[in-house]
Amino acid sequence: MAYFIIIAAYLLGSISSAVIFCRLAGLPDPRKHGSGNPGATNVLRIGGKQAALGVLLFDILKGLLPVSVGLYLALPPLQIGFIALAACLGHVFPIFFQFRGGKGVATAFGAILPLGYAISGLALLTWLIVFGISGYSSLSAVITALSVPFYVWWFKPELTFPVALVCCLLVYRHHDNIQRLWRGQEDKMWKKRK
Ligand code: G3P
Repeated sequence: MAYFIIIAAYLLGSISSAVIFCRLAGLPDPRKHGSGNPGATNVLRIGGKQAALGVLLFDILKGLLPVSVGLYLALPPLQIGFIALAACLGHVFPIFFQFRGGKGVATAFGAILPLGYAISGLALLTWLIVFGISGYSSLSAVITALSVPFYVWWFKPELTFPVALVCCLLVYRHHDNIQRLWRGQEDKMWKKRK
């Protein structure tokens, strides 16, 4: 059963909502505009608040749904972790979109939501604090991804390893952003990149 859910999580994660919603809203392809990232932040930059909200919610659901099913079936913690990882891998390397996906932040957040208010609340708080101070969505995501394994280690230690893998994937996917941040060339959430 776990294998089936892991595959289903990957396939669900592979639905690139940013590309689909932009197409439906008549907006440009997020892979070719702004930061080039098919995610809610870039959809917001490209100009669609409603589309961005839709993308955010859909991408959160891609993580939330399979992990909730795994928890409902009382699967072992490691398998729950690999379901979360599969959903994020689907988002990052989508089989339906030439394996060119997003950075996995919203999907990872969706995946940790069912792990409890403490972990997801602390993750959201970390993101909001860094964003409030810096205005950079990417920096907020990277610092949150570096913090979440510690929150999980504290509240659900059995899930630390797979969650840390997800967080490594997120940080790796932000390597361009990290270089731009380092050079002082990163755009804030609202600004378009030519
Ligand atoms: O959630 C994605 C965000 O961390 C970075 O997006 O478009 O600024 O590269 P972007």
